[in-house]
Amino acid sequence: MATDLENEKRLAAEAAAELVRDGMTVGLGTGSTVAYLLPALARRNLSLRCVATSLRTGEAARALGLVVEAFTGVERLDIAIDGADQVTPEGWLVKGGGGAHTREKLVAVTAGRFIVIADSTKPVELLHPPVPLELLAFGLSSTLRRLAPTKVRDVPVSPDGGVIADFTGPLGDPAQLAAWFGAAPGVVEHGLFPPELVDSILIGRGSEVELRQIRPRA
Ligand code: 5RP
Repeated sequence: MATDLENEKRLAAEAAAELVRDGMTVGLGTGSTVAYLLPALARRNLSLRCVATSLRTGEAARALGLVVEAFTGVERLDIAIDGADQVTPEGWLVKGGGGAHTREKLVAVTAGRFIVIADSTKPVELLHPPVPLELLAFGLSSTLRRLAPTKVRDVPVSPDGGVIADFTGPLGDPAQLAAWFGAAPGVVEHGLFPPELVDSILIGRGSEVELRQIRPRA
């Protein structure tokens, strides 16, 4: 039998799948919550063009009959749906638990609506470490020294050749930390996603789905 947590992931993912309309271009995130989104979307039998944020998601989506295109030639997405490791009441996210945050951020920023799906363990009052990073292999030791405390994660490099690492220092103001990472040579991308990127967050809680509308409705 599915655990309560798995059920919460499934409920959030199924609620997000209902937001997708026929003819849309859709960004598919990565992770165990998104794993419930893919069959829920496929079951709707809509005509969709999807892009995937990881090879694993792309393969799983295609196996279910979803049309997945390379992101190279797609300028705009109607909607993107993805999981998160932490979500705050204001809509700040930490992502990258699966090391896919670089592609995930590119897909999120391309989408007209970015929907986050999460179980009830993901909401936090304040973000906490670690913050996932993707770093250039070139000059890695120098980058790690400047970003200390940061540790390389024991996982393969990203599909784009980046080294996955985790910043374990204090977060303080996430906007300031995001600006610091953004300006640091050697950082390809960091896992802090600002509220400006987020349309809404769907959180599975028991047998319910809580909606947190972050961007005011148009
Ligand atoms: C991958 C991610 C995932 O969306 C995040 O780690 C949440 O994963 P899960 O749904 O398995 O808890 O950012 O890079």
